[in-house]
Amino acid sequence: MSKPVIWISRTLSAATLERARRDYDVIWDAADAPGSAEDIIAMSAKVDGMIPCHSEHFSADVVANLDPRLKIVANHSVGVDHCDLPALRAKSIIVTNTPGVLSDATAELAVMLMLGAARHAVAGDRFVRSGEWDFWSPALLVGKQVTGARLGIIGMGGVGRAFAHKMRGFDMKIHYHNRNRLSPEDEAGAIYHENLNDLLAVSDFLSLHCPATPETIGLMNAARLARLPKGCVIVNTARGNLIDEAALLNAFETQHIGAAGLDCFVSEPGGNPDFARHENIMMMPHVGSATGKTRDAMGFKALDNLDAFFRGDIPPDQL
Ligand code: DGY
Repeated sequence: MSKPVIWISRTLSAATLERARRDYDVIWDAADAPGSAEDIIAMSAKVDGMIPCHSEHFSADVVANLDPRLKIVANHSVGVDHCDLPALRAKSIIVTNTPGVLSDATAELAVMLMLGAARHAVAGDRFVRSGEWDFWSPALLVGKQVTGARLGIIGMGGVGRAFAHKMRGFDMKIHYHNRNRLSPEDEAGAIYHENLNDLLAVSDFLSLHCPATPETIGLMNAARLARLPKGCVIVNTARGNLIDEAALLNAFETQHIGAAGLDCFVSEPGGNPDFARHENIMMMPHVGSATGKTRDAMGFKALDNLDAFFRGDIPPDQL
């Protein structure tokens, strides 16, 4: 029996590509370029399934032009804001994602960004690396202490909970806002704020871990940033459009926000060049889940979903 044909849009881990080639006829281009709308539409007539990343956009227009041959979009991501889910559902195309397996890696990057932003990692690295370090003083690069401070988390799904767990190791007092209150076991002592404004008021540090939805896009606007305590450090490893970037820049100009650690931006790739003027903004190029172990786990989860679908079962991570 011939194998199903799948398109893998980007360079997934070697183990993922090896397993995919064992079980499927794989179309994959080592050039590793993001798939355009035209690429996705053209590919849909050649394949039974796809493993895209968040770099491939299944907008309503793209979905309207997909060939009926395409049966499943098995995303290599937990976020699915690049997919118009109602449009895909209306065409009976199955959509899956990769929850759980990237929580630790993403939380680790959030820890790095939070510590790096709080302790002037960008300025310190530049100072030493440039050869300009010819001076020391107790007043040099004085940062904000994490230990014992109040940490506000927006979104207590897998990544938010993994981040809370790691930051308890720094004796932080964890506060959170979520659509629903967690079970006492999952809360593990964290304080729930049903009202987002109440959470913001107690967040010496704030970390975003919610998905980008019509309700959360632009969530951290000027009014909400103003509710944070002066000197707050903001971390975003979720989606760039959760933050109004112009409002954040303004909050840096007025020194209301102390520092930020950002792994995602409204415009990607590229980010926001205006952030580069501020050395107290530490930036990474959307690599929260980029560890070898997690890339394998994400690829294998996407393949598990495809395998289930092509055997006639419901994929474990069907949305
Ligand atoms: C995700 O899984 O959503 C990450 O942002 C990587 O795409």
